[in-house]
Amino acid sequence: MKILVINGPNLNMLGSRNKEIYGEKTLAEIDSEVKKQGEDLAVEVVTFQSNSEGALIDFIQEQANSADGIIINPGALTHYGFPLRDALADTELPIVEVHLSNIYAREEWRAESVIAPIAKGQVSGLGWRGYIAALRTLAAEMKGKTWE
Ligand code: DQA
Repeated sequence: MKILVINGPNLNMLGSRNKEIYGEKTLAEIDSEVKKQGEDLAVEVVTFQSNSEGALIDFIQEQANSADGIIINPGALTHYGFPLRDALADTELPIVEVHLSNIYAREEWRAESVIAPIAKGQVSGLGWRGYIAALRTLAAEMKGKTWE
């Protein structure tokens, strides 16, 4: 079983960017936590980050056929990224949208997600652990197991 864990624009700056909102961990540290969790669950985790919507779409199109699910933090593309939304929907894979911050408790424009309607679900405001919650949920559902 293979899960893609994708991060969009500006998430490469985690660890120095707005720490009160996004937390202290760098993206490399978060990716490593998610991969460690993947090993425990016997799930292959492939991580990818780009600041460019086109590169995110290229990666999704290249990888979708060999993947079983996608966890994505689209960054600000969440709020207007229709090409990214189409690419995700075209995969027909289960998509879990993750946000480190609670997008409903911030500026009004962040409260709309164009990704949410094509996602299986969304985790918002749980910090880096949101990625772990998403991974464990997808893995448990696909393997037909409950959490330990
Ligand atoms: C974010 C929330 C977005 O509104 C913002 O543009 C981001 C990060 C989050 O993880 O909380 O880049 O997706």
